[in-house]
Amino acid sequence: MPNLSHTLQQRRQKLAKLIDVPAILWSGSINSRNFPANHFPFRASSHFLYFAGLPLPNAAIRIEAGKLQLFMDDPHPSSALWHGEMPTRHQIAQQIGADIAKPLAELESHLEGAATIPAQDAATWTQQSQLLNRWLLPQQPPQGIDLELAKAIISLRLIHDESALAELRQAAAVTVAAHKAGMVATPKAKLEAEVRAAMEGVIMSDNMTTSYNSIVTVHGEVLHNEQYHHPLQPGDLLLADVGAETEMGWAADVTRTWPVSGKFSSTQRDIYDVVLAAHDACIAKICPGVEYGDIHLLAAMVIAEGLVNLGILQGNSQDLVEMDAHALFFPHGIGHLLGLDVHDMEDLGDLAGYEEGRIRSDRFGLGYLRLNRPLHPGMLVTIEPGFYQVPAILNNREVREKYENIVNWQRLSQFADVRGIRIEDDVLVTEVGSEVLTAALPSTASEIEDLSN
Ligand code: GLY
Ligand code: MN
Repeated sequence: MPNLSHTLQQRRQKLAKLIDVPAILWSGSINSRNFPANHFPFRASSHFLYFAGLPLPNAAIRIEAGKLQLFMDDPHPSSALWHGEMPTRHQIAQQIGADIAKPLAELESHLEGAATIPAQDAATWTQQSQLLNRWLLPQQPPQGIDLELAKAIISLRLIHDESALAELRQAAAVTVAAHKAGMVATPKAKLEAEVRAAMEGVIMSDNMTTSYNSIVTVHGEVLHNEQYHHPLQPGDLLLADVGAETEMGWAADVTRTWPVSGKFSSTQRDIYDVVLAAHDACIAKICPGVEYGDIHLLAAMVIAEGLVNLGILQGNSQDLVEMDAHALFFPHGIGHLLGLDVHDMEDLGDLAGYEEGRIRSDRFGLGYLRLNRPLHPGMLVTIEPGFYQVPAILNNREVREKYENIVNWQRLSQFADVRGIRIEDDVLVTEVGSEVLTAALPSTASEIEDLSN
């Protein structure tokens, strides 16, 4: 892997070619639970991590014309008792290739004309707003020089460099191992929580963390289910959406769905194969120049066609997609950017996910599409089609009326043992096509049965 300081230098030089104002990026602060030393896990801002390379709390970097300045306080002498000897800011500066290292208070005299991006924690973005004398709120569209900086950083972070890819591959490999461990643990597990523990145990053993709160549930129809108390019953499908994050913050995001009993019922397998067909068709289409929005529509089409073949939907698949009938069962987008964050750069709203000039559709079948850009080599995206029976959608009176003759409700009732299925992999766009970074994790129904028995 390239040396850290060299990678960071290259990133700064690329940034210098894109903007000519100084950029100041804050890492974020540590939030305490009840007393100062009992704190929530710290996660540095991803924009900071991209240029500073280390998860340093309460630090800021200033980048101008390719030069890096580090602002952070040295550890208090008393902290050695509780935390051991910590490196000084000068030692850290050397590690990351900073030219100057100063106490945080000195940042105040280096703010003029600087652009920034708000950190996620309120203490930090409030401080940023006060120091720079303008409101800086996460998820709000940036303005002026901050917008210029955001666009410059997006253009860099969209296309992963060699160091980023090395980290992303490590996160992917550990995530694959975690999913295999989850499948192996299932026959003896009584609760979702036990499978989650087996999966996260692998991630922790590799000294990584999860890149988002794990979803390990027999209620996959709750898209971001974060409860783990349900018992595992023989007829259930277990949906596990679990991803590792390296120490430097690079993420993986993978979903598999497997039968608790080790064998899919015939109805579960029928739907599984529809979702898998969408997953495989989308991955096969990924290459430079392809529109990610078209990949989403391809998934919608394959799912609609599969559901017609199973007698659940009635009509022609193209017409069904145009009337958003697929979204009754696949209500989210086909995926998103992946990098230092699981939904990479979504702290900037849709600025990264949507090509300039495009905005989100308000259509039911397109509104949750998080990425709408042509693909380029070096981009990493997820492909994650699914099928869900969400009561809030399928029992909605207006939905029932609108799709009364489109859905064969009688036939659908025969698939009651399929609450939620999702199959998700991490796909790198290459010069010639794509590479699935998580390909070592099988996805066919038979392979999944073999692993979970
Ligand atoms: N892994 C959760 C998501 O993609 O939203
Ligand atoms: Mn995902």
